Amino acid sequence: MTFAVAGAAYDRFMGRYLPTLAPAFADVAGVTAGQRALDVGCGPGGLTGELVARLGAEAVSAVDPSPPFVEACRARHPGVDVRQGVAEELPFADDAFDVTLASLVVSFMRDADAGAREMARVTTPGGTVGACMWDGGRDGMPMLDAFWRAASTLDPTITGERHLRGRSEGELAELLTAAGLTDVEEGSIAARAAYDSFEDLWEPFTFGVGPAGAYVARIDADRRDALRRACRVELGEPDGPFELEARAWYARGRVG
Ligand SMILES: C[S@@+](CC[C@H](N)C(=O)[O-])C[C@H]1O[C@@H](n2cnc3c(N)ncnc32)[C@H](O)[C@@H]1O
Repeated sequence: MTFAVAGAAYDRFMGRYLPTLAPAFADVAGVTAGQRALDVGCGPGGLTGELVARLGAEAVSAVDPSPPFVEACRARHPGVDVRQGVAEELPFADDAFDVTLASLVVSFMRDADAGAREMARVTTPGGTVGACMWDGGRDGMPMLDAFWRAASTLDPTITGERHLRGRSEGELAELLTAAGLTDVEEGSIAARAAYDSFEDLWEPFTFGVGPAGAYVARIDADRRDALRRACRVELGEPDGPFELEARAWYARGRVG
């Protein structure tokens, strides 16, 4: 599993985008007080925290297959019902939630169609199911885009992550429509992260998080150093602090 890492490692790699991504996603999903919500593939709990702020911990549940992420999410959000499990077989009853969301998860589901059907099953009729994923197009998510472009300059056989499910416009809406959701709406949301330096961006790639982290872990030290240098070039050789803006596709639909 490429997400069997500590919550703190995820925070430095991807979690730093969540303080801007999660509120934007909760807004387009229409998360408002009084609802019961489920965070599918919650990771260490970036979106979970936004749901707790809007709904209260007792109204929020979360699920993830990664034991360290389940542990981190529980520790960070006391009172939230955090379970270990996968989207394809959600450990929750039918119609249990008003809103069921998956942030940056569809690409990693073993069977995204089954995952979307399960998200609909646990959501009450009239409720909302939503998903978001980074835009896999050029500069959609500059951190990952720069990394994989650098990797492919060193090894042209590398395809990176952009082919993964949900990274192209229209794919998330198709997924939700195929799962039987109605009034499916799609759009994009923006997120951003600040870095102290290029090293602040690069070091978390060595923590083994996600497909990029798994790739770095299996190449030798010389290749890793070449990749680090190529990645810095792809990002315009930043000198000192900088910020990156990223775009995610989202889709939301209604049950019943
Ligand atoms: C990029 S992280 C996103 C975490 C969190 N939702 C966020 O937005 O920060 C992807 C997450 O999907 C989880 N995951 C992988 N396969 C999954 C599956 N089949 N069902 C549910 N979650 C899964 C991973 O353990 C990981 O926590």
